Amino acid sequence: MTTTTDQRAAEAAEALMGRIFGAALGAAELFTIYLGDVHGIYRAIDEGGPATAAELAERTGLDHRYLVEWLQSQAISGLLTIDGTDVWTDRFSLAPGVREALLEPTNPVYAGGLAAVVPAVGRAFPQLVEAFRTGAGVPYAAYGDEAVRAQEMLNRPAYVNSLAAEWIPNVPGLHDLLTRGARVADLGTGAGWSAIELAKAYPAVRVDGYDNDEDSISRARRNAAEQGVSGRVSFEVRDIADVAANGTPYDLVTFFECVHDFAHPVEALTAARTALAPGGSVIVMDEHADEVLAAPGDEVQRFLAAASTIWCTPQGLVDEDSDVVGAIMRPDRLRHLAQHAGFGQVDVLPIEHPFWRFYRLTP
Ligand SMILES: C[S@@+](CC[C@H](N)C(=O)[O-])C[C@H]1O[C@@H](n2cnc3c(N)ncnc32)[C@H](O)[C@@H]1O
Repeated sequence: MTTTTDQRAAEAAEALMGRIFGAALGAAELFTIYLGDVHGIYRAIDEGGPATAAELAERTGLDHRYLVEWLQSQAISGLLTIDGTDVWTDRFSLAPGVREALLEPTNPVYAGGLAAVVPAVGRAFPQLVEAFRTGAGVPYAAYGDEAVRAQEMLNRPAYVNSLAAEWIPNVPGLHDLLTRGARVADLGTGAGWSAIELAKAYPAVRVDGYDNDEDSISRARRNAAEQGVSGRVSFEVRDIADVAANGTPYDLVTFFECVHDFAHPVEALTAARTALAPGGSVIVMDEHADEVLAAPGDEVQRFLAAASTIWCTPQGLVDEDSDVVGAIMRPDRLRHLAQHAGFGQVDVLPIEHPFWRFYRLTP
């Protein structure tokens, strides 16, 4: 009996050690991917063609010795190919898939945002370690500019490829409403891509995007101008609780992946309800947390739970009386919040996504 128990514990420890090694490998590679992205090395190879370390140093202005080491790591990891075995003199090319996953920010498989999250967490990490003792929040700004950039890189591909093409057609009546023309408020808009893609798909729609993060709103304004929709999409730095302040009645209010981050989610949902025009409704896109805890969980739940611990929950704890939910926001929890915010009905929408669940809230 004891031997069997000891044996099981030894096997479990060995398996865990393997798993932790895999995680360390992934983390180390994410840092190298970030370096390739932020310094434009993948792009320099893509645009200028296969190159040696010396040629790339010339093209990018980066240090030759660091480039040799980075190129070697990328070839060993399989993100680059090398046309020989000498990392000092042979030429490197992009491996298949690297362009789509790391150089095309609107490609559905674009994954650059996942690499950008790592340095953002690194910047806030000393504060986060301390916060576990003090209970203090770690403001979004503590994660640095990279956090806002990472956030926009993470979600933009889905808004570009799925918002109008897949999601809206699955919400009864929404396509017709937006086609006729509607006033929309996009709350917690971040860099504004949900608002911008909505306006691009529906020319009769006007969208007001709100976020309390200044950097996000300046990026959102720049993005809207670049996409040619600034005339119909405006962005303002404003706390969600004040969304009804300008008196505009909205036919639709949207929350894209942010309710679980809010320090005061009931107040945010109440503000959204108050801002609705008669007949209006609220759409919430939030994390696809399991309906009940499954422990251990699958990879999606593991990712959400870990992200919640190092990103969402610390950011939502910024107010002393915070009631932040965190990324494991189960449907029952949202129903409860919505009920407290005065909504009469909460429907889970028939939109399938591995990471997100969609809800419609009706007063
Ligand atoms: C996870 S990000 C989502 C951003 C964007 N919707 C997207 O999908 O990329 C959450 C956003 O909520 C914003 N936020 C958090 N608390 C807020 C508040 N009280 N008022 C306004 N915005 C808030 C943050 O600044 C951040 O941009």
